[in-house]
Amino acid sequence: MQDRGNWSSKFGFIMAAAGSAIGLGNIWKFPYVAGKNGGGSFLLIYLAIVATIGFSILMAELVIGRATQRNPVGALKRLQSGKWWPLIGYAGIVTAFVILSYYVVVAGWTLAYIGKSATGLLATTDGDALGGMFTAFITDPLEPIVYAGLFTALTVWVVVGGVNQGLERSCRYLMPALFILVIILCIRSLTLEGAGAGWDFFTRPKWEYVTFQTVIEAMGQAFFSLSLGMGTMMTYGSYISRDSDVVESGFSVITLDTLIAVLAGVMILPAVFAFGMDPGQGPGLTFITLPRVFAQMTGGIVFGPLFFILLAIAALTSSVSLLEVVTAYFVDELGWTRRNCTIAAGVVAFVLCIPSSLSLGIWSDHTLFGLGFLDIMDFLATNLMLPIGGMAIALFAGWVVPKQMVEEFCAGNPKLGGLAKVWLFFIRFVSPIAILIVLLNGLPFLGPYLPWN
Ligand code: PHE
Repeated sequence: MQDRGNWSSKFGFIMAAAGSAIGLGNIWKFPYVAGKNGGGSFLLIYLAIVATIGFSILMAELVIGRATQRNPVGALKRLQSGKWWPLIGYAGIVTAFVILSYYVVVAGWTLAYIGKSATGLLATTDGDALGGMFTAFITDPLEPIVYAGLFTALTVWVVVGGVNQGLERSCRYLMPALFILVIILCIRSLTLEGAGAGWDFFTRPKWEYVTFQTVIEAMGQAFFSLSLGMGTMMTYGSYISRDSDVVESGFSVITLDTLIAVLAGVMILPAVFAFGMDPGQGPGLTFITLPRVFAQMTGGIVFGPLFFILLAIAALTSSVSLLEVVTAYFVDELGWTRRNCTIAAGVVAFVLCIPSSLSLGIWSDHTLFGLGFLDIMDFLATNLMLPIGGMAIALFAGWVVPKQMVEEFCAGNPKLGGLAKVWLFFIRFVSPIAILIVLLNGLPFLGPYLPWN
């Protein structure tokens, strides 16, 4: 058997797992999804979901991974000999490709924006001009695909390097740097004239606008942002050595990810209001707002490119974790070499990203239920595949192998017995039932047709 490698330290694991969690989901997606869903109430619902469903399922993934030291398919096979449960692992591989198909497109935009902001192309406070430039870029039939290809190649390159060389090293210094830059930008955004309205929007709940639609988007966002429901955290957990405390690490990862998401909201939404823009305008929000912030900031010409470099790297440490799920399976279960399967998976991801990118431009009139290819992929992954995957993982850990899970939960720290019982209750009952209720009521093709709605 090949040597699978391990994280070099607990800190190394936390940084790598936080690197997976922190990415476009926090900085590109969270602010616009919160903006579209009314701000404050979305934030509270999001936080509640992270602390309950999110935490319990993250722990389930980490514990299963660490206990088996295997990829998701192998892990579930090892814990239980039945033939159905490993399907969770196979579904995770499919989900990884679904997410990669659009993740590399948006990540490609961040690469392009490094150059655009460094050359001063975006140095204007004219919101319409910035909006126009963004639209012209993402609808171009070729340029975004070239950047997506470049980004996919970078992802493959890191994954080929193996966990502790490629992954861990890139996260150690860059994550803290991103954090500092986000704080600086929060301060700039909050001190813009008229920023108060945005602060208010983001922090004051407006319950009258909350529907199951809001809740399902908050739940999907939590799964997406924490990299849950498809085996990523299980895979990362499988590289933790068996004597280190997973609970503490899991707690750190959740805290860091949530902190960055909330800070991203503070960085974007006050500026959006200060500039009189529409918080509900969708995926372009971060890309249109931030250049305008940089244009009004001393040193903006340096901060701009620096920010997009760090964002691209944050996206890279996430896309790497998506590809790693695929690679770990082929390496562990089928005995392929890391290099070959990573390159093959990278080629597939690149081919799938082409329709996503074109669906924003020349293929924008090919839609299904009014959604283009990119939106369909995002909807499927975020609001359907990840929550269902998460529910299945919770049920597996809570009902199929509960005794072993509780033992493993406390393995690094025997004082955790009490918490383990609470956790078991969550993965057995609270989380699966809550996910089911939200899915049934919140899915647009299901919820409205239920007799009680
Ligand atoms: N959590 C990552 C982000 O927020 C995306 C991701 C989802 C990564 C699922 C791995 C698995 O950008």
